[in-house]
Amino acid sequence: MSLRSFLDKAGETGRLMAIQREVDPYLEMARVINRLEGQPLIFEKVKGYDYRVVAGICAEREYFALDLGIDVEQLLFTSSEALANPLTPEIADAGPCQQVVEEQVNLEKLPILTHLPQDGGPYITAGVVVIKDPDYGRNVSFHRLLRSGHRHLVARLVEGRGTDTALKKTADGLEVAICIGNSLPVLLAAAMSPPPEVDEFSIANALRPTPLVRCLALDLEVPAETEIVLEGRITQATAPEGPFLDLTGTMDIVREGHIIEIARITHRRQPIYQALLPGGREHKLLMGLPREPTIHTEVSKVCRCLNVLLTPGGASWLHGVVQIEKRDADDGWRAIDAAFRGHSSLKHVVVVDEDIDIYDPNDVEWAIATRFQAHSDLVIWEGRPGSSLDPSAIHTPGQKTRTTKMGLDATISWHTATGELRSPEEREAFKRVRYED
Ligand SMILES: Cc1cc2nc3c(=O)[nH]c(=O)nc-3n(C[C@H](O)[C@H](O)[C@H](O)COP(=O)(O)O)c2cc1C
Repeated sequence: MSLRSFLDKAGETGRLMAIQREVDPYLEMARVINRLEGQPLIFEKVKGYDYRVVAGICAEREYFALDLGIDVEQLLFTSSEALANPLTPEIADAGPCQQVVEEQVNLEKLPILTHLPQDGGPYITAGVVVIKDPDYGRNVSFHRLLRSGHRHLVARLVEGRGTDTALKKTADGLEVAICIGNSLPVLLAAAMSPPPEVDEFSIANALRPTPLVRCLALDLEVPAETEIVLEGRITQATAPEGPFLDLTGTMDIVREGHIIEIARITHRRQPIYQALLPGGREHKLLMGLPREPTIHTEVSKVCRCLNVLLTPGGASWLHGVVQIEKRDADDGWRAIDAAFRGHSSLKHVVVVDEDIDIYDPNDVEWAIATRFQAHSDLVIWEGRPGSSLDPSAIHTPGQKTRTTKMGLDATISWHTATGELRSPEEREAFKRVRYED
């Protein structure tokens, strides 16, 4: 399974839009992707570069479902299954990602997009970063990478995440392979945060077979079907990184980021570069999709959880809707508590019954309007650890971000305002009366 096999499927089903007009990766391409957001795109002619560029391949849940050969509703359960049962991938002797080897590194030959005039420079945004933690082994994750000259990148390594903790264990840096142009299972697995000893490529392999190849000069493995691989080293030296548009659609500040030295580039013949619009739909979906299974797992420990959605309006990160089959009067409360355990960056959560369509914001709002009383169904927790991405949270340098969390139990209450238990018939009366088709 590869990026190319997805493009074939997207083409066959009429979803892929090929753009024949020449487009400039400096500012223009980001504007086109933004304008056509939601659709897989392939830019056939890229101004000043030999590479083609794809974008938008992760912008809808249905693209993951299409690639995995499942229904959209199955996505949550298929990713939960792969997360719980990773499968070690086979190591192949050779792979397409090493068809061409460039010993003369020049990152300026890659069509790296500059997205906005206020950005710190051209940024690799869909790079899957592979390192080995001295204690836990392989770690795979996303990091935005600012190009700095012919051979260098500056990485945003969020504190406490896998790459950052591994780097802190070494004095002279870490070997790194940056994979650009990956299959959807690899992209989804790289966005997950399993326990440190769990290998994300084994999760990708559990989703769909993902053979690896060894890097040419590093003790690291990469997916054989990747389009482009940058082999190098994350150093302990730093340089300014930013400004850059973040997940919430607001501008992130300039910080010191670690410098990466690239020693070698390998790629497929006629390589395809992958772009990912920062703050756009696919950035949001890749962040949110992997957290839905972790919320589902936690809520399932305390009640019957039917579905979970991190809503796009909450940047697919800060706002969640949890659907339960209520079997006990307190299940709504239990679900709120467990949802926050399942995703530590979650800020607001709404719990709804099985008759609510969690993909329809109007239906969720209707549940709040007709089943929720703030004096009894609302929980507010102040000063909790929260997401560093929320501009309204309390950010103190060197400390974990603090925020106020809110949970709304919008399930049908089993008790009246005076505390009497409602009969099943009385609870039925809360359900929407529907016209026949
Ligand atoms: C598109 C995308 C871009 C991301 N960019 C960054 C980044 O620049 N820096 C970072 O530390 N995490 C970034 N992340 C988040 C991490 O890749 C993600 O949380 C990952 O699961 C961390 O896993 P780990 O804690 O196991 O390393 C990004 C995620 C996505 C989906």
